[in-house]
Amino acid sequence: MTARIIDGKALAQQVRARIADDVTRLKAEHGIQPGLAAVLVGEDPASKVYVGMKHRATEEAGMLSRQVVLPSDTSQADLEGLVDDLNADEQIDGILVQLPLPEHLDPQPIQELIDPGKDVDALNPYTAGRLAVGDPTFLSCTPYGVLELLDHAGVETAGSHVVIVGRSNLVGRPLSVMLTLKGRDATVTLAHSRTRDLGAVCRTADVVVAAVGRIGLITPDMVRPGAVVIDVGTNRGEDGKLVGDVDFEGLREVAGAITPVPGGVGPMTVTMLLQNTLEAARARRG
Ligand code: GUN
Repeated sequence: MTARIIDGKALAQQVRARIADDVTRLKAEHGIQPGLAAVLVGEDPASKVYVGMKHRATEEAGMLSRQVVLPSDTSQADLEGLVDDLNADEQIDGILVQLPLPEHLDPQPIQELIDPGKDVDALNPYTAGRLAVGDPTFLSCTPYGVLELLDHAGVETAGSHVVIVGRSNLVGRPLSVMLTLKGRDATVTLAHSRTRDLGAVCRTADVVVAAVGRIGLITPDMVRPGAVVIDVGTNRGEDGKLVGDVDFEGLREVAGAITPVPGGVGPMTVTMLLQNTLEAARARRG
């Protein structure tokens, strides 16, 4: 079998064009320009790239993009003060503090401080709790992107067995909850580093989602022929190139459909951040 490639880049372009149209209309009809503030603390090279990508995408969608870059020795109090200011800023509908933060900063109180109405990154425990009780506000961007990719690829999640590998707060845990919401109706196994015989567990899946951050984690023998494989991994190979968690070349011959890295989940993460910012602006000011 040769897997169908699920093209996240093409889908992202399509969704971003629709978001840009919605922004144009919101401006023309209500005089509202959605605004996103992205906060970067320190010099982490990958974070710089991600924040730069978010900034460009936000501007291309016609939104206001405010990038706040702080030195790596910024204090907890100063960062919390900045979040307070952004919470009070009428032009800003969405706030994102890029992770990881430098060692001396504690991300939890920062995330708790972000106004739930502006929590477009969905990392505030209130936002996570609303999802956990089945009444979500904002959906975390990467898992939200995974759902959009599955829909786009025509993958029916109702009644399907989805095995998610990786229990992070950014991806695995929220995705496991989203997939069990009414309307999604998947049966979910959330596997992690202590899961016994990961291969046997993955072979029972209709859909495998790899979200650990380890090159070569999912090999062809771990996937049932015809299953759908979603690769959330973003690792740097020895040659410096971006690679996922999945043996893409091997899995192409086994899976029914698969997302590539790059060009799969990544472009959708940024896209869903724009979608959340649009929704935040509508809810706050529409
Ligand atoms: N670092 C890696 N992914 C993310 C994300 O989705 N949001 C934030 N804030 N930081 C990240």
